[in-house]
Amino acid sequence: MAIGRNKVTVVGAGNVGATTAQRVADAELADVVMVDILEGPPQGKGLDMMEACPVSGSDVNVIGTNDYKDSEGSDVVVITAGLPRKAGMSRDDLLKKNYEIVKVVTEQVVKHSPDSILIVVSNPLDAMVQTAYKVSGFPKERVMGMAGVLDSSRMRTFIAMELKVSVDNIHAFVLGGHGDDMVPLPRYSTVAGIPLPDLLSEERIDAIVQRTRKGGGEIVSYLKTGSAYYAPSASILEMVDAILKDKKKILPTAAYLEGEYGINGFYMGVPAKLGSKGVEEIIEIHLTNDERTALQKSAASVQELVGIIGVG
Ligand code: LAC
Repeated sequence: MAIGRNKVTVVGAGNVGATTAQRVADAELADVVMVDILEGPPQGKGLDMMEACPVSGSDVNVIGTNDYKDSEGSDVVVITAGLPRKAGMSRDDLLKKNYEIVKVVTEQVVKHSPDSILIVVSNPLDAMVQTAYKVSGFPKERVMGMAGVLDSSRMRTFIAMELKVSVDNIHAFVLGGHGDDMVPLPRYSTVAGIPLPDLLSEERIDAIVQRTRKGGGEIVSYLKTGSAYYAPSASILEMVDAILKDKKKILPTAAYLEGEYGINGFYMGVPAKLGSKGVEEIIEIHLTNDERTALQKSAASVQELVGIIGVG
């Protein structure tokens, strides 16, 4: 990465995009460009965030724009563009609409930032990352999706609420697609290093797993007209931070699999090492038969979606 400030572009100045831009600026991680097709909101939000920087003590530029030219030479591009879930809608209902949006966005991003790393957040997540991967022509390590950090963060929250301990003590492990059949793994979820099954009954663990799976929907049912953005943007920030600081941090990431976990040729949430090259390694863990079956089921859902939009 060149010496000087990093540059992060966030495509989509809606709630997820704008809160992501704000978090990146507050963390003084990079100059931030927000791109949106709407005229006015990205410019206004960008200027508003920029005017917060003197108070927060952050020496970065933040701009909002309708022109991808302003995103030129970005190190990381976060794609949040697309319609959000509305009450009663599944992530998959969004499939075709968001496919068109992510396709056009990716073409523009690639044109102006050919060396960037893409983090896709639009839903249905796994199929949208695959779309960005195919359309960009980028190597697989430079295209990934954010979902697992969010799903794990929700699981950590629910474990902390149940046990009344610090969230700092809790590590949670979620594999698979970002859909209702994602695969939370209690065996690999720990509290101060102690596996969850040693601390909670099967029944309580099952309730936490179910709530995690439906975590996105739970927020949608409260908000009615949109989906979650505080926890999603915090999760995006963790990935951006790991990449820009070359942390080699292992995070649950939607990564392109070529045989890992018995899955070939599409994206799934797996533990991946993130650094300045993007997805630098996929960590394979041993799964029980039940866990493997659950992962295959999740993979089959992702494969079906990818088939519908023809990006397999
Ligand atoms: C969520 C939606 C955005 O999980 O997928 O909150």
